[in-house]
Amino acid sequence: MDAPAPRHVAIIMDGNGRWARQRLLPRTYGHKKGVETLRTIVKAAAEKGIDVLTVFAFSTENWKRPEKEVRALMHLFVETLEKEVPELMDNNVKLRFIGDRAPLSREVVEKMTQSEARTKDNEGLTLVVALNYSGRDDILRAVKAFKERKDSSPQLDEELFASFLDTRGLPDPDLIIRTGGEYRISNFLLWQGAYSEFYSTAAYWPDFSRKEFEKALKEYTRRDRRFGGLG
Ligand code: FPP
Repeated sequence: MDAPAPRHVAIIMDGNGRWARQRLLPRTYGHKKGVETLRTIVKAAAEKGIDVLTVFAFSTENWKRPEKEVRALMHLFVETLEKEVPELMDNNVKLRFIGDRAPLSREVVEKMTQSEARTKDNEGLTLVVALNYSGRDDILRAVKAFKERKDSSPQLDEELFASFLDTRGLPDPDLIIRTGGEYRISNFLLWQGAYSEFYSTAAYWPDFSRKEFEKALKEYTRRDRRFGGLG
């Protein structure tokens, strides 16, 4: 029997730069096309009744890219949030960000906070955007926050620790999709992805379509998830 549909799908949106290079276009054009793909996949996920969609938009390591590209990405985030929030409202999508906001500019942080506030009462899909995020950094910040907690909480266990992570309150991802042909987790949801099914496709993110997304979901339902047991 096929497994039930995933509740939480996470995506490493890779290949924007290569998609652009193939067409002799600037890398930033690939990121712009990537936003269009994201719009398609958010709609598809909402229609399919998926509870949570998490996308890796900017990693803590992405600061190593040329300053011009980082600036263009930050500008794209602000512009996209300005443009797309009305559409998120129409689709009943709640937006949430994970990652360390401290190094981000005030303009970016303000847009993030505003967009979260505007969509907070939506009850459809939760779209989680990982921005200046990495799994190790998430774990490290959780440890620091735990050490600094005021109340003396009960004994530390997995559930309590998870409540200190950026993803508190969210289910763990059932499926992690990576586009762009690599088979790496690249410091994404390290704690949360402990038992996620992994799906890699050669398609660059700007080429990833609703059809490709459906293919990944279908493959997921055929996987035999045992969580370390015998099933
Ligand atoms: C990876 O491709 C993609 C990114 C680092 C950026 C993805 C961001 C978006 C699609 C915009 C999302 C916007 C919001 C507001 C959520 P790459 O540059 O690593 O491609 P390459 O591996 O071919 O170089």
